Amino acid sequence: MNSILITGGAGFIGSHLTRLFVTKYPNYNIINLDALTYAGNLANLKDVANSTNYTFVKGDITDMELVKSLFDKYNFTGVLHCAAESHVDRSITDPLAFVKTNVNGTVALLQAAKDHWKGQMEGKLFYHISTDEVYGSLGADGFFTEETAYDPRSPYSASKASSDHFVRAYYHTFGLPVKISNCSNNYGPYHFPEKLIPLCIHNIINKKPLPIYGKGENVRDWLFVEDHARAIDVIFHKGRIGETYNIGGHNEWTNIALVKELCHQMDQKLGRAAGENEELITYVKDRAGHDLRYAIDSTKLKVELGWVPSLQFEEGLSKTIDWYLNNSEWLADVTSGTYQKYYEGMYG
Ligand code: NAD
Ligand code: DAU
Repeated sequence: MNSILITGGAGFIGSHLTRLFVTKYPNYNIINLDALTYAGNLANLKDVANSTNYTFVKGDITDMELVKSLFDKYNFTGVLHCAAESHVDRSITDPLAFVKTNVNGTVALLQAAKDHWKGQMEGKLFYHISTDEVYGSLGADGFFTEETAYDPRSPYSASKASSDHFVRAYYHTFGLPVKISNCSNNYGPYHFPEKLIPLCIHNIINKKPLPIYGKGENVRDWLFVEDHARAIDVIFHKGRIGETYNIGGHNEWTNIALVKELCHQMDQKLGRAAGENEELITYVKDRAGHDLRYAIDSTKLKVELGWVPSLQFEEGLSKTIDWYLNNSEWLADVTSGTYQKYYEGMYG
């Protein structure tokens, strides 16, 4: 039986990945290690929580003793490393938290894997989930490829770039079998409402202002989260050791065009007059160091492993809005902090 450690499995992408692996691979033993920060929510995994091949461990990836003890206990053959501080705005107010989890936490996991797999690296895999933000910011043209030089510009992207470098260092120096993927912006169910799309969905429902940074001209390349999880599955099983794969949606939107599309779809879904939601759009002070444009070239993944996104954006966005409208309790809980109080009571 394969024994797989997923870190950050209670977060947005981690929960989709955990669900996919638990349901698709009943012969894998999946251990989800998550600190349950504000971004981690066990409600994201309610449907698989009782599966016999799934175990949840509340803990911090920077806790070396804990990480080592989990390797000893479960004899992991693979690691899918998702846990991170993930929000750029928070990295501007508290960079050190990002260094701690994203850099120190990643190195703690690498070190534990290296020590535990010493002399028996064959068949093992450390898969690091990273971001396109490590490549910096594009102008009007061009795409990020796997060869694009790193040029991180926020504390978040600098911490992720650093973690990518450590993963490669462990590959080259210690022969640790690693893979890295760098993905563009994800969207979909269970996305924490501090990020643009779920924040705007939440605010539209409540007729609150939709804050657009600067002029709204920044461009992001959006991918449905289940397509990201599928790509990770393919790379995990079929990608080449030591390689990097870029994952993206070929789906670029300026923030303002995206928010207008969201307003339009939600006018219809909420039975509001055409244009009513757009009146909520409010231009606010720009994010410091705001990257202008991200766009991924995922040709390598397509040609080598046959992965392509499955959903058109308008369809994915519609599915996402419907999910939030049908899961108002989830949204109310995460915005009221009820779930964090629950964890404090449950885990101390
Ligand atoms: P998220 O913030 O929704 O979830 C992060 C999870 O990690 C949470 O469950 C949190 O509790 C857990 N966590 C945080 N610190 C921890 C620690 N010290 N120890 C253990 N667990 C901890 O993040 P996400 O958006 O799902 O992103 C997951 C990964 O994918 C990150 O590595 C991120 O850099 C990367 N990524 C995200 C996107 C995106 O659009 N969201 C795109 C590309 C790559
Ligand atoms: O590209 C991948 C990255 O995408 C991931 O690595 C990050 O973890 C993830 O958070 C995301 O980063 P962004 O900064 O692109 O996502 P965010 O949703 O915060 O912002 C998307 C765009 O919308 C960005 O240009 C900033 C803008 N924005 C964001 C918020 C929260 C606004 O205009 N208003 C807002 O209120």
